[in-house]
Amino acid sequence: MSVRRLAEDQFQPAAFAFNDENAAWADKTIQKYPEGRQQSAVIPLLMRAQEQDGWVTRAAIEKIADMLDMAYIRVLEVATFYTQFQLGPVGTRAHIQVCGTTPCMLRGSENLMAVCKSKIHHHPFERNAEGTLSWEEVECLGACVNAPMVMIGKDTYEDLTPERLEEIIDTFDAGNGASITPGPQIDRHFSSPEGGPTSLTDEEPKKKASAKKVVAEAATAQVDAAPVPPSEAARPKSTDAETNAALKTPVTAPKAAAKNVKAVEEQAVAAPATDAGKPSLSDKNRPAGIEKPATPDDLKLISGVGPKIEGTLHELGIFTFAQVAGWKKAEREWVDGYLNFKGRIERDDWIKQAKALAKGGEAEYIKVFGKKPR
Ligand code: FES
Repeated sequence: MSVRRLAEDQFQPAAFAFNDENAAWADKTIQKYPEGRQQSAVIPLLMRAQEQDGWVTRAAIEKIADMLDMAYIRVLEVATFYTQFQLGPVGTRAHIQVCGTTPCMLRGSENLMAVCKSKIHHHPFERNAEGTLSWEEVECLGACVNAPMVMIGKDTYEDLTPERLEEIIDTFDAGNGASITPGPQIDRHFSSPEGGPTSLTDEEPKKKASAKKVVAEAATAQVDAAPVPPSEAARPKSTDAETNAALKTPVTAPKAAAKNVKAVEEQAVAAPATDAGKPSLSDKNRPAGIEKPATPDDLKLISGVGPKIEGTLHELGIFTFAQVAGWKKAEREWVDGYLNFKGRIERDDWIKQAKALAKGGEAEYIKVFGKKPR
């Protein structure tokens, strides 16, 4: 962490004034705060002064203190506390704040600082020869998950390599900083895993979610089917005393309904496929099973088959892709009904998947479907 002091006198301008647009904005901002709380505008005003002049001068600190009726030292305390405020002249095109806190340090921030030293200046806060670039080391900027990173202006540039930082610095120096998309500089969406999601990608969570929906609908139907109370007009009028007595009596119906909902939900989560309507194991359309081979196929490669479904298929004597590929329509319908799949075997085209896997494994699957199984 660097020592934060005001710039030398030689850099300090004699006076500071907001330009017309910023002055109007400052007045409006101050008015946002309740009477007596105008000092709360100190950070926005300091930030606007920095955006106007490139850094926070002593004259700006004093001017803002006067505007907010604060002691100069109080505004100086704020300006020197937050590293977002620059207390001396910085690069006119970019001031690069390199995070040097532990996660970024462990992921290579020292190499990023080496780039800054070689491309800008050996010392932090010193500008390059043209005065266009400067850099400093700062503490955690809150993007540790995508370490290492830097901040330039109000944007962060994450998942950096020294090479990428060099490109970014060159682009800013050329005046094209706006062309760079802030955030991760690799194949990562915000702070998601690199290369795409790695969890909740299979069908099981979706199935559970839809099971819950079915349960909720069933429970609602039960509540809806409860006897309808007499209409207001048909209901006998009660006296105030009767009403008060009724209000003291615990209302049990909604509780019973809630209990009912929970019971139905628990039942469905425990056993999403009920036996009602389930085809019989002795049905003639049940596909023929086989003894478990020494190396059964990984049926989970079929989209729609998770570990639980695979276990059920094993119980039915289904262990190979070739078995699934050979199912006739009636057999498919039997399995679909047994798994309570409601047509999913056809929708997911298990037969085409199983045929490809049986013929040439993953390579054939990729050839047929243009993607890896599952
Ligand atoms: S440690 Fe670098 S952003 Fe948090």
